[in-house]
Amino acid sequence: MSLFPLVLIGCGNMGAALVRGLRRIHPEGEIRLVDPDQSKTSLLESEGVGRPASLEEALEGAAVVVLAIKPQLLSTVGASLHGKMGEQTLVVSIMAGVDRKRLRDALGSPRVARTMPNLPLMVGAGATAIATDGLSASELGLCRTLMATVGSVVEVLESQIDAVTGLSGSGPAYVLRFLQALEDGGVLAGLARPVSRELAMATIEGTLSMVRQTGLEPEVLRGQVTSPGGTTIHGLKALEDRAFPAAVMEAVAAATRRSKELGA
Ligand SMILES: NC(=O)c1ccc[n+]([C@@H]2O[C@H](COP(=O)([O-])OP(=O)(O)OC[C@H]3O[C@@H](n4cnc5c(N)ncnc54)[C@H](OP(=O)(O)O)[C@@H]3O)[C@@H](O)[C@H]2O)c1
Repeated sequence: MSLFPLVLIGCGNMGAALVRGLRRIHPEGEIRLVDPDQSKTSLLESEGVGRPASLEEALEGAAVVVLAIKPQLLSTVGASLHGKMGEQTLVVSIMAGVDRKRLRDALGSPRVARTMPNLPLMVGAGATAIATDGLSASELGLCRTLMATVGSVVEVLESQIDAVTGLSGSGPAYVLRFLQALEDGGVLAGLARPVSRELAMATIEGTLSMVRQTGLEPEVLRGQVTSPGGTTIHGLKALEDRAFPAAVMEAVAAATRRSKELGA
């Protein structure tokens, strides 16, 4: 099974980033762009990413249709797509909070996959979860190939997608908040802000690379920088005293609960 012709419906932030990533890895594949805002499709066309098309043209013989519209538009867009997709066409949704049953009902198409990417997809460093239940091996393979062009991919059950939203969907905001706090900490300790920003960013990036490249448990690596009675254990105690781990866990839990409420 092929990814192409691939149709992107909704050429906004996420959709455009996805097809740019796809184009980098698959320079030859045919990409058709559907969005009422012509400035968005024209920009992508000028970058050589794909060509604008009407919905009818776009769907003709499509292998994959990526749905990257806002969830509140599903009923309108679904009505214009209803019954118009070929039997072989796989719809891949990146919409938050819309389950596969709603997608199938709205689109009148049984071949629907649900994925949950996150914002760093825009720079090719996304984290995407694919809900595997109900997908055939070849459909899952297509979704993996598509989403792997813009970052790392994991497989989950659809019942776990709210937890994915709470962790990696909302996660970039938590990490950004941590980055800001680290930077402010440096400023509080007397560093100039640009110096503090650079050190904070390089520390986060470097630590993640170290975990990936060594394959060692975070606990083991942490032990290597935490000498008895030293500076790091004093910093860590301040985080423990303020329940930092519990606060982060509760952030994921609260966002997961909210995702469930919104999807209900
Ligand atoms: N941002 C995130 O971190 C994130 C993470 C995971 C999943 N998502 C999901 O990704 C999806 C897209 O989000 P986004 O931030 O990329 O939104 P966005 O920038 O608003 O993009 C949506 C695009 O769809 C277009 N559109 C509106 N009506 C359409 C129609 N009838 N046919 C085709 N296109 C139409 C919009 O055009 P107009 O602007 O002219 O209305 C816009 O260009 C959402 O469902 C969201 O839940 C986002």
